[in-house]
Parts: sequence; structure tokens; C-alpha cells
Amino acid sequence: MKILALSGSLRAASINSAVLRTVRLLAPVSMEVYLFARLGDLPLYNPDLENAPPAAAQLLRNEVASADALLIASPEYAHGVTGTIKNALDWLVGFEGFVNKPVVVLNATPRAHHADAALRETLTTMSANLIEAASITLPLPSANVTEENLLALPEISALLNGVLAQIQREVMNPYLDSSHYIDSQHPLIVAKAAKLAEGCADEEEIAKRCFEFVRDQIKHSWDYRLNPLTCKASEVLIHGTGYCYAKSHLLAALLRANGIPAGLCYQRLTIDGDQPSFCLHGLNAVYLQQYGWYRIDARGNKRGVNAEFCPPLEKLAFPIVNPLEQDLPGIRAEPLPAVVKALTENQTVEQVYDNLPDVDPQNTVAAPGGIMS
Ligand SMILES: Cc1cc2nc3c(=O)[nH]c(=O)nc-3n(C[C@H](O)[C@H](O)[C@H](O)COP(=O)(O)O)c2cc1C
Repeated sequence: MKILALSGSLRAASINSAVLRTVRLLAPVSMEVYLFARLGDLPLYNPDLENAPPAAAQLLRNEVASADALLIASPEYAHGVTGTIKNALDWLVGFEGFVNKPVVVLNATPRAHHADAALRETLTTMSANLIEAASITLPLPSANVTEENLLALPEISALLNGVLAQIQREVMNPYLDSSHYIDSQHPLIVAKAAKLAEGCADEEEIAKRCFEFVRDQIKHSWDYRLNPLTCKASEVLIHGTGYCYAKSHLLAALLRANGIPAGLCYQRLTIDGDQPSFCLHGLNAVYLQQYGWYRIDARGNKRGVNAEFCPPLEKLAFPIVNPLEQDLPGIRAEPLPAVVKALTENQTVEQVYDNLPDVDPQNTVAAPGGIMS
């Protein structure tokens, strides 16, 4: 999981930057806290450059798009926010990748409240998902605020660990939800998930069992030329068959029903050999406390295809070897619309084979996710 940290102060001895560095040091290995160091390089925002932003602004937008959440700490200048942070946010106002982004605001100056309130108002207006429970004022000492000193203060460490835990909870929520296609609360899914978890020592063992069940017991619809066509996780379980995409919906649902965050990933592969045309291939990512996001592919093994669950080593069905092929970036909580269309608007597995889903990678909105950016 990647947290993008923005300090609204350019001062070398900035308290706000020290707080963000402290959070970085406290973060577990599964959470990368990345401090964006180039806010001072951003030119003043100019709407004329909205569609062709300067390099520093484009870099900021890319980092925001690939981050799971933003963490902002910024001082108050003359009862307002600093120009540094406001200018950075102005470059993000019209940027689609910012909308709904989970954002936490830390106030490192207890006496200052105007900037904190103004920052929250701006972020809400920009359609950020402000995580209120984690956006706190820190009771910092009045002098010697460095990361070494902050780490030595149990109260501050506890508060910042709480902030990290809240961010993790918020970011993971969509990957635990039951939804129309990943219907993890369907009674049959709940029952199967519980059965698979029986006797398991930990989440890793549960995840492995769910993976092996979907890989080995659910028949790939094209390998077995097996109708009916399935899309929802419960349909895949009931009929015992699905295309890779549908099998990934079932695996995500079984993991979520066991309280393990799971998402969907896609690769864009050539259909035949080293030349166009292309189709999507669907697989999963599971969030394991010990390793973070880990990709798994339960499409079903066959000659030349040997996917395994062996974290942290990734063993996918189709490693990308051809330069025309690619991993679509990010981990999605819900299936791509092109996939749902293919699995719901066709009638048979044969029709899907003739109309395999594909997307234009340039026009696919990037999804956040700690791997594959
Ligand atoms: C130009 C300027 C204006 C400031 N205005 C305020 C203010 O209105 N309210 C306040 O509480 N502190 C104000 N301060 C103090 C800063 O908030 C404080 O020094 C803070 O630690 C700066 O953050 P930093 O250490 O991350 O750079 C101001 C400081 C500067 C340099």
C-alpha cells in the first residue's frame, strides 16, 4: 500500500516534514510512505496549462494516481494555508485521479486552527475522501521536533500508529465489500468460505486454500468448453465453471468472506503468438499482513501454465514476456466494465471466446495499488 505524504513547508527544519518522516519510520513493511520532495519545484498553477502540465505537476499527478491515500501535514501562515500546499492542490483540482482519494490531514501546530479548517474545506470541495477519524491535531513538544525525538515519545508514536491503522482500514474497505459481482455475502459463498477456512492456522493458509479451490475445482469455461456463462461469484460457485475473469470474482469473494482484502488485476495479452490482437486476462491480488499485496492467478493450470501460491514469490499463469503485452496498473475493487459487458451481454462461452474483452490501456483510468505501477 502506498501513502503519498505532502508537507506544506519547504523549510529544511520543518516540523511538518519531521512528522511525515516519523510516520514513514513507523509504517509497517506493507505500507510505503513516500514523501513527495518536489512541491517547491511546482510552478504557480495556471489553468492554461491544465492539459499539458509542467513536468513537476505531471509527476505529482502520477504519484497521486498511484497512491492508495494521501497524508498532508502543513503549517499555518497568517491564518491561512501555505502557498506551497495550496498551489499543489490547485494542480490537482481538475485531475480525475484525485477524486475520492482517501486523504488524512495532520495538524502539527495545536494553536493553529484556521489553516487546518481551510485545508479540510478545500479538500472536501475537491471531492477528496477526508478520513476524519485519522485527521488529528498532534500534541507536539515546543522544541527539538525531529523524527528521532518524536519516535521517543510514546504518546506521539501511539497517535501516529493509530493514523496508519485508520488509513489501512479505509483503503482496504472497498477490497472487503460485498457487491453485485463479488457477492461475498451470498449464503453459499459465506458457507464455502467458512468450510475452506476450517482448521487453518492463519490468513495465509486460508488464502492458499481459497486459491487452490478456485484454481483446481472450478473448471475454466474455455478449457472445458463448459456452459453456462458465469459472471457473479455465486454463479461461478454454483455452476463450478467460469472464465478467468469470473473465477477471479469467486476467489475475491471467498477471500473477502474470510475478512481478507482481495482485488482484481488485469493483464493485456496477445491472443495468438507475438502479434496483435489482444484480450484481457483476469487475476487477483490478495492483501497479506506479512507481505502486502500479492498477485495470484487461479485461472486453472494446464500444460505450460503453472500458477502457484507461494508468497512473496509471484508465480502467475502468464508472466509478461512479450513486449506487446502488459500488466494493467493497479488493483481494482470491482471488475472492469469491459469484462462485465463480455460476461453479461453474451449468451454462451463460445460467444465470449469470439468477443474476448479488451481495453485501450491509454484510456483506462489507473487504479491505485502497491504493485504494478
Ligand atoms: C510566514 C509565517 C506565518 C505564520 N503564521 C502563523 C499563524 O498565523 N498562526 C500560527 O499559529 N503560526 C504561524 N506561524 C508559525 C508556523 O505555523 C510554525 O512556525 C510552524 O512550525 C511552521 O511549520 P514548519 O516547522 O513545518 O515549517 C507562521 C510562520 C511563518 C513563517
